[in-house]
Amino acid sequence: MEKTIALIPGDGIGPDVVAEAVNVLNAIAKKYNHTWIYKDVIAGGRAIDMFKNPLPKDQLDICLRADSVLLGAVGGPKWDNVDPSIRPEKALLGLRGGMKVYANLRPAVMFPQLKAACPLKDEIVGDGLDILIVRELTGGIYFGDRGFASDGRSAYDTEKYSWEEIERIVRIGFEAAKGRRKILTVVDKANILNTSRLWRTVAESVKPEYPDVELNYLYIDNAAMQLVRNPKQFDVIATSNMFGDILSDEASQITGSIGMLASASLGNGKGPGLYEPIHGSAPDIAGKNLANPLATILSAAMMLRYDFKLEDEAKSIENAVQEVLNEGYRTGDIAGADRDAVKAAGKLVGTKEMGKLVVEHLK
Ligand code: IPM
Ligand code: MG
Repeated sequence: MEKTIALIPGDGIGPDVVAEAVNVLNAIAKKYNHTWIYKDVIAGGRAIDMFKNPLPKDQLDICLRADSVLLGAVGGPKWDNVDPSIRPEKALLGLRGGMKVYANLRPAVMFPQLKAACPLKDEIVGDGLDILIVRELTGGIYFGDRGFASDGRSAYDTEKYSWEEIERIVRIGFEAAKGRRKILTVVDKANILNTSRLWRTVAESVKPEYPDVELNYLYIDNAAMQLVRNPKQFDVIATSNMFGDILSDEASQITGSIGMLASASLGNGKGPGLYEPIHGSAPDIAGKNLANPLATILSAAMMLRYDFKLEDEAKSIENAVQEVLNEGYRTGDIAGADRDAVKAAGKLVGTKEMGKLVVEHLK
């Protein structure tokens, strides 16, 4: 298979981790006889420095023409004081909106090898956590009308959802739940918000098509509490852009695997998907061979699965990551309390070594 992959290394540790994902993708290409053609895209802080624009149109166009897009991370304190209209985060919203990738899949899984890093008590997590958050990504308050009054003393943002925008997310939630533990939780604030009431109406209308899936609802405040009180009740969560942003950070933290988690942002399947680690740009450790590349490597695996339908190749990467962890190799962020022991065993590794280990374990 021959595919074009747009690479957005971005800022901070983005280039460090994307380089390792590319090494892994190249090894897969060799093993399974594929050809990847890479196109470099400049976006985020780097693009602000170079073009005074976090996502120039020609850079977005490279993404739109590609078969898939891999993003490292964007932003950093260097750009904290730039004009809000050109902040690095604008690149993310521009990519999401421009690529029409409306469904953000954020799996929050606990890697059993990293259980010690999970901040919850043993009796709460038991044998592990595996939650999938399906976050709406191109609508709601992130994209709604907003403004400041001319005197700068009042401001507004608006949450707006159409039936269609909700239905396509709810359907993805049902489909995902069908292949998992068959529970879909819609998270909202239906005691206050009209948009949330519409989410419930739409979910009810789709429900008869999925008789095997149990559908339930939680208010966002309760959901945030339940995630730490009894996370095992969750299988798939479908929710709005803003609530999904908040809950996915919480969910990733309780797995203890924040440096390990991948994500996929998908549209209607006609254009490329956008794949990225859920962690940020960690500018303090950029370029120091300290970042954990596994989340980006696992994002590349999701790309192979969803955009290229290469399930064996995706599994090959995921299995290699599991094996490297089983053998005890850790980057600093996931070594946790065992750091000294990991180091003494010669298994505390840097970004490059971790990437190389995954390549060596590919089957
Ligand atoms: C995320 C991030 C972004 C978001 C920010 C950086 C704009 O927090 O991907 O979750 O809020 O969507
Ligand atoms: Mg976020």
